Amino acid sequence: MDAAVGLPDAWSQVRAPVIVPLLKLAVAVCLLMSVLLFLERLYMAVVIVGVKLLGRRPERRYKCDPICEDDDPELGSAAFPVVLVQIPMFNEREVYQLSIGAVCGLSWPSDRLVVQVLDDSTDPLIKEMVRMECERWAHKGINITYQIREDRKGYKAGALKAGMKHGYVRECEYMVIFDADFQPDPDFLHRTIPYLHHNPEIALVQARWRFVNADECLMTRMQEMSLDYHFKVEQEVSSSVCAFFGFNGTAGVWRISAVNEAGGWKDRTTVEDMDLAIRASLKGWKFVYLGDVQVKSELPSTFKAFRFQQHRWSCGPANLFRKMLVEIVTNKVCPSTHEVQFCFKTTP
Ligand SMILES: *[C@@H]1O[C@H](CO)[C@@H](O)[C@H](O)[C@H]1NC(C)=O
Ligand SMILES: *[C@@H]1O[C@H](CO)[C@@H](O)[C@H](O)[C@H]1NC(C)=O
Repeated sequence: MDAAVGLPDAWSQVRAPVIVPLLKLAVAVCLLMSVLLFLERLYMAVVIVGVKLLGRRPERRYKCDPICEDDDPELGSAAFPVVLVQIPMFNEREVYQLSIGAVCGLSWPSDRLVVQVLDDSTDPLIKEMVRMECERWAHKGINITYQIREDRKGYKAGALKAGMKHGYVRECEYMVIFDADFQPDPDFLHRTIPYLHHNPEIALVQARWRFVNADECLMTRMQEMSLDYHFKVEQEVSSSVCAFFGFNGTAGVWRISAVNEAGGWKDRTTVEDMDLAIRASLKGWKFVYLGDVQVKSELPSTFKAFRFQQHRWSCGPANLFRKMLVEIVTNKVCPSTHEVQFCFKTTP
């Protein structure tokens, strides 16, 4: 107690009336937040159980009969919609062949499939390798174009936007984006396009990512767990209650008219996919998550790559949220607690 005697009088005067109430307030706020978090988890659990029990699976809720030539033999492959596949790249020396190969191996009438490799690489050697790979596939009869830009304005969103400026895109009804480290199975389009084809209210069908190297090290295992939670719980819940958050364009099929109606890609944030998804959802478009359709990918296993991705994921949404706030408020859309929580994770 001797030490306390040495403290200035002012301290003992503020302690009781100011510090104690402040601490109490902080405790109350923490408690409230824990309760909110708990309620959110509970809500998700209830929705998940509901989805499982009521069988509200996408294939029961939406018409998704296969599109096939036998329906109308006169039309032949013209019965199929034209699909644009975009592969944005940036110095992807290790993976470019895998993703281009997987996309060119998609089963779909070859005159109804247009592939764009949007290469923003800065390394001339990699650029040349990617260009030659595209040429090789073009010789095999695939409608594939290799596209570069003069600058990297807008980064990925800028590249996607530039890809859509070409005149022939007007002939395409749907577009699919695969990041350079994603490899779809050959039946990907046959399992996703029918949802969009038969249900005009759907803007995006999102497939699930499967990580081939999840067991490589502790870090990839941890990421796999967190992404698994994201897909199994958050996406499933979002898609079942028609919320819009958490959709990621990679390995998803967009209806091009919905993208245009929502204003297209904008390069104002690093989470351009979420930005577009919110704008489309404010216009009333629906999103469907197909947990059974999986697209192979690799998790970053070096710490640097991991940090980079985490940064994008934690800072992007917060910046976007600030920009979207006005739009959300004026449309009277109320984000749920987990969306708010997601938006405020701003650890750099
Ligand atoms: C590729 O597809 C587009 C859009 O359907 C078409 O306009 C173009 O002529 C095709 N190119 C080749 C080489 O087949
Ligand atoms: C979706 O998320 C992955 C993984 O974080 C990221 O690499 C990718 O850029 C995102 N997709 C788009 C279209 O931005």
